[in-house]
Amino acid sequence: MRDFARAIVQAGEHDFETVFRRTLQFTNGLDAGGMAGPAPAAHVPFLFHGVEARMDPMAREYAWRDLVAAEVLRVVRADADVVVELGSGWSANLFTLWLRGAPKGALYVGGEFAQGGREAGSAVALTRPQMKYLAPAFDWSTPDFSFIPREARHVTVYSCYSIEQIPELSADAIRALLARTTAAESVLGVFIEPVGWQYPEQVTDQGLLERTRRYAQEKNYNLNLRQVTETLAREGRIEILGVAVDAFGYDHNPATVIHWRRP
Ligand SMILES: C[S@@+](CC[C@H](N)C(=O)[O-])C[C@H]1O[C@@H](n2cnc3c(N)ncnc32)[C@H](O)[C@@H]1O
Repeated sequence: MRDFARAIVQAGEHDFETVFRRTLQFTNGLDAGGMAGPAPAAHVPFLFHGVEARMDPMAREYAWRDLVAAEVLRVVRADADVVVELGSGWSANLFTLWLRGAPKGALYVGGEFAQGGREAGSAVALTRPQMKYLAPAFDWSTPDFSFIPREARHVTVYSCYSIEQIPELSADAIRALLARTTAAESVLGVFIEPVGWQYPEQVTDQGLLERTRRYAQEKNYNLNLRQVTETLAREGRIEILGVAVDAFGYDHNPATVIHWRRP
């Protein structure tokens, strides 16, 4: 992705929307340029609140990115100073937020574990110099939130399938985030993660429950996000605003959307 984004920019493509779209196509195994014809990838069942849809992979990718953006935009104030994704990959979600009308004056931070992801995000962001964008190193295992300006008044922070990668998230990671943002007037957050099976009492489809639990265990994915958020809520550090279990996504690991805020 980094090499692809860099190469198209070097070849003279400087339009942000085009660079973003072509890189998004590239991540789906399609030739850039919209001339790919029938998509090579298999049509994987995709769920919208329990309803299965079969879609062309690029249609699914656009739908997915917009669904994620819509959930994040619910916790972005018009006067937000900072919007942070933790474990952002190449920041496809942050770029989608920008294109979908997130505040143009905010600082966008794509904290990412992999250097290649940070460099790919930076290559795309260079084509949109008005966007204040940073791509610092971030690791949930040794979280350092110093990239969030202490003076930020309104902060939005979210994750999308990156806590997934951490089998046992430490509640201290979120405590450290809250400690870094104590001066802020508002801290709003959302975790978009495949943890629906951690809310078994809310899953009516037993097949889905078993399939998603097994998938998380086999992949060594996150096992305790519910526990972490509920512990922090009991401590009064966060208020859970809503949990939408298995809201949308692939039928083997759909997203559960947990909105929260600092009280
Ligand atoms: C499935 S991808 C999601 C990327 C991005 N959030 C998105 O939605 O496009 C998982 C991401 O988690 C990142 N990741 C893996 N281990 C991590 C860690 N210990 N701390 C932070 N991020 C991590 C990966 O590098 C990758 O970018």
